[in-house]
Amino acid sequence: MAHIVAFANQKGGTAKTTTVTNLAGVLNELGRRVLLVDLDPQASLTIGFGVDVSGLRETVYEVMIGDTALRDVIVPVREYVDLAPANINLSVAELQLVSEIRREDRLRHALAPIRDAYDYILVDCPPSLGLLTLNALAAADSVLIPMSCDYYALVGVRLLLDTLRRVQERLNPDLAVLGVLPTRYDSRTLHAKEVLEEVRAKLDGQTKVFETVIRETVRFKEAPIQGQTITEYVSDHPGADDFRRLTQEFLDECEETRIAQ
Ligand SMILES: Nc1ncnc2c1ncn2[C@@H]1O[C@H](COP(=O)(O)OP(=O)(O)OP(=O)(O)O)[C@@H](O)[C@H]1O
Ligand SMILES: [Mg+2]
Repeated sequence: MAHIVAFANQKGGTAKTTTVTNLAGVLNELGRRVLLVDLDPQASLTIGFGVDVSGLRETVYEVMIGDTALRDVIVPVREYVDLAPANINLSVAELQLVSEIRREDRLRHALAPIRDAYDYILVDCPPSLGLLTLNALAAADSVLIPMSCDYYALVGVRLLLDTLRRVQERLNPDLAVLGVLPTRYDSRTLHAKEVLEEVRAKLDGQTKVFETVIRETVRFKEAPIQGQTITEYVSDHPGADDFRRLTQEFLDECEETRIAQ
């Protein structure tokens, strides 16, 4: 049965989508069966895999709001990777969900029938703590927090960890915090080094901070324009190595979480 992981951070631009995309790229190379769920109306995950959003008849929106089965919106994007795509319609789902019964449970119910078909289900959240993100957190076994190495992102992570504790209390007691992943690390700046040191020191013993740090490189911006992941686009680049290392650490952490749960 698939391990479901939400990639969440209410701050914009912390590399949620980049992390989901490139993790999926390496998992595909390893032959793991992956379902990606694009829960962001910006649809960056969908677009980054080269899917033409204007050609989509039904998307995650119809799943969240209507009676459409998730299975019916899935498009294969790699040999082992399927995608449940989004488009801009999803931006009104947040408002429409407010009046629904069990409005936080829509995604959990939608994923249940197809969970056995995958090893990992990765959910890319929008940059907010609204009902779409809450649906992801209610459905997930674990949450991974991509954090760009800048000061405001660090402040935001503390807020997010408080919110996650409330989600564990009220919505999903089994939700594990897989860890904080430092991203967009620019080793040339003292600021990035200080933020990295501070996040490790502050969260020490409470929340895992991944050993792997994703470095800042323009290759991450270029790859999705070609509809490629970093390991496909520049296989021998340090950015690709970062994601191979992250994937190993991710798999180890998921295994530990699975045993603990
Ligand atoms: N390691 C990196 N090096 C350079 N650029 C990066 C890196 N990671 C992400 N980016 C770029 O930063 C921008 C934001 O990344 P991304 O879209 O993954 O963040 P996000 O958290 O999903 O954003 P949003 O909150 O808007 O959904 C993108 O242009 C992306 O290409
Ligand atoms: Mg995103």
